[in-house]
Amino acid sequence: MKTEVLKITGEKEHDRKVIAKAAEIIRNGGIVAIPTETVYGLAGSALLPGSAEKIYKAKGRPSDNPLIVHISEPREAEDIAYTSDMFYRLAERFMPGPLTVVLPKKDCIPGSVTGGLDSVAVRCPENPIARALIKASGHPLAAPSANKSGMPSPTTAAHVYHDMNGIIEMIIDGGECSIGVESTVVKPTEDGVMILRPGRISDRMLRKVAGSVEVAASVKDPSKAEKEKVESPGMKYRHYSPEAEVVLIDAPSRKYLAYVRNHMENGSGALVTTEHMNDLDEVPEGFTVFDAGKTRSASERSKRIFSILRRADELGLKTVYAQLPPSNGAFLALYNRIVRAAGGRILKI
Ligand code: TXA
Ligand code: MG
Repeated sequence: MKTEVLKITGEKEHDRKVIAKAAEIIRNGGIVAIPTETVYGLAGSALLPGSAEKIYKAKGRPSDNPLIVHISEPREAEDIAYTSDMFYRLAERFMPGPLTVVLPKKDCIPGSVTGGLDSVAVRCPENPIARALIKASGHPLAAPSANKSGMPSPTTAAHVYHDMNGIIEMIIDGGECSIGVESTVVKPTEDGVMILRPGRISDRMLRKVAGSVEVAASVKDPSKAEKEKVESPGMKYRHYSPEAEVVLIDAPSRKYLAYVRNHMENGSGALVTTEHMNDLDEVPEGFTVFDAGKTRSASERSKRIFSILRRADELGLKTVYAQLPPSNGAFLALYNRIVRAAGGRILKI
């Protein structure tokens, strides 16, 4: 299959045609890669059972891992799920935006979309291209991240092309994703919400709106994922891992940099925060230092993480060193992704 990459240019008539073409593919049961503000998604109709199967096949993803369903306005949640006061409180504050809410599903959503669960994850993205496509197709869109299963999520159309060339019909290129990590996934509880997957919307932000906010144990410790299988099936799989081995080091910056200095072999690399970029001198040929973003900027470091991991693979690196970030507040999303990229192993020095 030939994979067409169509750019959104800002030229109205051109962009309308791109969206119309994608909408037709979706209505005919096909799948299209689309930009969102978090990561690129692999979108198909959430109402046609065959589309979900195509998505699983393209990703190489186990079909018991449920898909997020994307809508263009919070009100459209009524069409696919049983909403609640809590849903509308969250929607009022965070939608459109990078928040996904798990709700009891209605019958129109086939079990193939939800991995057989009786709940559905609902998200209203902010990206105008994604919303325009949902509107133009007239279907809510099931869309997981558009990477091959297990690989880092794609934050540019080139990342999607790398994983999906020859496998899907069309990629809409809407530029680099502004957030760069997937949405926060929450499930309403009796007196608040439980975070199943951390993202840009942090526990602190949620607490102001939702009252009590719990964090599922597997978010910090992937080995707990088996027990939480039913809560968040996506968390049990090896995730976000590049081919390179990620060696995650729990140490203060000075110690971390000293460790890296002792391991600057050809064919490896290290993530270093912007302030420390000049602390590594005499970097040998064949060792790559990645600028991980400003130390205290959780959003900048989160935005860069997946593209750095992908770059490490492009360079053919065998080992990539990274410092364990804080796990509190806005850093939890980065912490969660990097611990998974390292296969859950943390080296304390
Ligand atoms: O930002 C995002 O959410 C991106 C963009 C494309 O919107 N999508 C995304 O989808 O990350 P995916 O399929 O890669 O991740 C979906 C996550 C998984 O962890 C999955 O287990 C969880 O959401 N999930 C989906 N439906 C669920 C449900 N009914 N109950 C619990 N967790 C669910
Ligand atoms: Mg994913």
